[in-house]
Amino acid sequence: MKIFLDTANIDEIREGAELGIVTGVTTNPSLAAKEGIGGKAGYRAAVEEIADLIDGPISVEVVSTDAEGMIAEGRDIAEWIANPWVKIPSTTEGFKAISVLARDDIKINQTLCFSVNQAILGAQAGSTVVSPFIGRLDDIGQEGMTLVEDIVSIFRQYEIPTLVMAASIRHALHCTMAAKSGADISTVPYPVLKQMVQHPLTDVGLARFLQDWEKAGNA
Ligand code: E4P
Repeated sequence: MKIFLDTANIDEIREGAELGIVTGVTTNPSLAAKEGIGGKAGYRAAVEEIADLIDGPISVEVVSTDAEGMIAEGRDIAEWIANPWVKIPSTTEGFKAISVLARDDIKINQTLCFSVNQAILGAQAGSTVVSPFIGRLDDIGQEGMTLVEDIVSIFRQYEIPTLVMAASIRHALHCTMAAKSGADISTVPYPVLKQMVQHPLTDVGLARFLQDWEKAGNA
């Protein structure tokens, strides 16, 4: 399972890139706004900066709600960087836009997916990847991970090539469970990436190794 960073924060992306394990980035209008990124030109400049740091797909979301607007935005975003995934929401207008953009060979990240049926429809329309939102389902008392498991199992059963990206990840256990469920990608916020690195026994073990080394007379 690949690890993407779910952020528009350049410092976080730079650090993720230095770790050598982050192979893509997902952004959305909320994440961009959080970083003070505004307007199409501002979003584009930020996405270009991200693409300079990460040699993998960068997801960029449209803000139109009608198919015509999404298609125009998608075609524009496709010119911004070498490897864009245009984020289109799982709506009626979204599916119309996905089918047109996919025919143009533009890569689509079908976002805001909250049901198996939305995933099936998006795959038929031509989504490159579908993003079930785990945390937001958990928030309303539904088991978000079950959605990931169901989509993966149905896509495997019918040999559907659309990838599955676990999104709206809130903690490290979500990531472990997404991997066990067969997700192709998990897109994680930076603090979750840090949680994934940490284990107290690693810290204790390292301190003890170094103490023993020093006790034996090594500088
Ligand atoms: C995915 O691509 C989205 O940007 C993201 O995972 C949304 O997560 P949230 O529920 O934490 O906003």
